[in-house]
Amino acid sequence: MFPQFIEQLALHKVVPVIALEDASRAKDLAGALVAGGLPVAEVTFRVKGAAQTIETMAQRGDVLVGAGTVRNLEQAKAAQGAGASFLVTPGFSSSVVDWALEQDMPILPGIDSTLGLEMALERGLKTVKFFPATASGGLAKLKALKGPYGDVQFCPTGGICVGNLAEWLTFPSVVACGGSWLVAPKLLEAGEWEEVARLSAEAVSIASQVKEPNS
Ligand code: 3PG
Repeated sequence: MFPQFIEQLALHKVVPVIALEDASRAKDLAGALVAGGLPVAEVTFRVKGAAQTIETMAQRGDVLVGAGTVRNLEQAKAAQGAGASFLVTPGFSSSVVDWALEQDMPILPGIDSTLGLEMALERGLKTVKFFPATASGGLAKLKALKGPYGDVQFCPTGGICVGNLAEWLTFPSVVACGGSWLVAPKLLEAGEWEEVARLSAEAVSIASQVKEPNS
């Protein structure tokens, strides 16, 4: 399901997870991500200005902008209205997932268990967010899940950083990793756009060195 979206995820390999308190900084933030060669963003609804940030970033037209921490239909609809191209949920919300499927809106439901995976698979979703990745058992858990769920692709998020990105991306079931380290709130508050661009470029460089499975 959603092959074009999954293809783009696989291309970028890293998804910056953003919590931007001050939506008036969204333009600069988008510019920094583009300058760093990482034109993709998961803008989380854990802060107030999320819809405004999505709108500003999506208006550029050259950034793949999605909404994260989508926990209810109201947020999902606000994200869609703001121009989000995809939704990400921290846990499996049947109402949000079913609505997204009705809308033909790409969605990565968050799962940390076989139960969540079964719920996703029942709906034809074979790519999910693995959250919270490190706290839920890390790569060891993904390795265990790969046995029965070898056809599922994961986007791990939660505890991914520059130091472990390559290890996660090397695992064949991992299509992309999400993380906030390159857009840490303190960088955004301080307007450290050059640093955001540098960290983004660093992540892109690490991802580009990871071998494709079977290559
Ligand atoms: C998320 O919302 O996906 C995570 O909270 C991001 O996790 P991180 O801050 O550990 O990267």
